[in-house]
Amino acid sequence: MTAEVIDGKLVAAEVVEKVTVATKKLIADTGVVPGIAVVIVGEDPASQVYVRSKGKRATECGFHSVTHTLPEETSEADLLKMVESLNNDKDIDAILVQLPLPDHIDEGKVIQTIAPEKDVDGFHFINVGKLGTGETDSAFVPCTPAGSMVLLKKALGKDDLSGLNAIVVGRSNIVGKPMANLLLADNATVTIAHSRTKDLPALAATADILVAAVGRPEMIKAGWVKPGAVVIDVGINRIDAPEKGEGKTRLVGDVAYGESAEVAGAITPVPGGVGPMTIAMLMANTLTSACRRAGVEPPNY
Ligand code: GUN
Repeated sequence: MTAEVIDGKLVAAEVVEKVTVATKKLIADTGVVPGIAVVIVGEDPASQVYVRSKGKRATECGFHSVTHTLPEETSEADLLKMVESLNNDKDIDAILVQLPLPDHIDEGKVIQTIAPEKDVDGFHFINVGKLGTGETDSAFVPCTPAGSMVLLKKALGKDDLSGLNAIVVGRSNIVGKPMANLLLADNATVTIAHSRTKDLPALAATADILVAAVGRPEMIKAGWVKPGAVVIDVGINRIDAPEKGEGKTRLVGDVAYGESAEVAGAITPVPGGVGPMTIAMLMANTLTSACRRAGVEPPNY
C-alpha cells in the first residue's frame, strides 16, 4: 500500500481563505475587526521567525495585528503588566505570548494571567478544563491539535470516529493531552502512550489513527503502523544532513516517513503536514474570539 499524502499546506490555505472571507463579512455586518496581539520576549531566532509569520498571516486575514517585542531582560512583573493591559484592550480579541520565555520568567504564571476569553493558545486552565469536559463551544482548543483534527477528518472523510482505535504517542499539555480529548470527543477509543509505555511498537500497531507527538526524530517505524492506518505526525525535528553538504540540516517528523508511507492509508509529511495548520488554526481561533465578542456564530473548519 502507498499512503495518501495529506497536504497540510493546501488545507491550511483553505482554512485561511475561510477565515479571510468570514472576517470581511464580520466587519461588514457588525463593525467588529478581529484583533490579535503577539508578545515575544528576547531574541530566540526560531521564535522570531514564528512571530513574524503569525503577524503576516493575521494581516492577510484582515485582522488588526500588533506585535510587542520586549527585550530579554524584561522582568516578569513588566510582562504581566503588558498582558493585563492587553486583557483590558477592547480592540484585542486574541493574546499570544510566544514560548519559550526566558528562564527568569514563570511561564505558567504568564499563561494563567491571560484572560481565558482571549487565550487563543488554549493553554489557560479554564480552556483546558472546558476541553476536558466537552465545553468546546466556548473553549479555545490549542492550535496544533485542532489543526491535526482537521487533517485527520479530511483524510477519513468523516467527522465521527466511532469504532476507531486512536493512539496518541506523547503526553504533553500542548499536544498529546488535548489531542486525546479531541479524539475522545469525536467518539474514538483513545490511548495515550509515552516513554514508560510497555511494548509501544505492538500497541501502536493496533491503531487505526496514530498520532505522533514525542519530539524524537523518526522514532516511529513502519513496523509500528497498522496497514491502512491514518498517521498524523506532529513532530518537527531538525537533524544533520551531511548528504546536503557540510553543516546542512533538514526537517523530519517523529515518524520514519518513507517506510511508513508504504504501510499507512494516509500520512502527513514533514514539512508540509501539521506545521502549516498551527498558524491557520491560530487565525481561526482569533476570528472565533471576535465572533463571540460580536455575538455571531463562528465558522466550523
Ligand atoms: N512556541 C512554539 N509553539 C507555540 C505555540 O503554539 N504557542 C505559543 N504561545 N508559543 C509557542
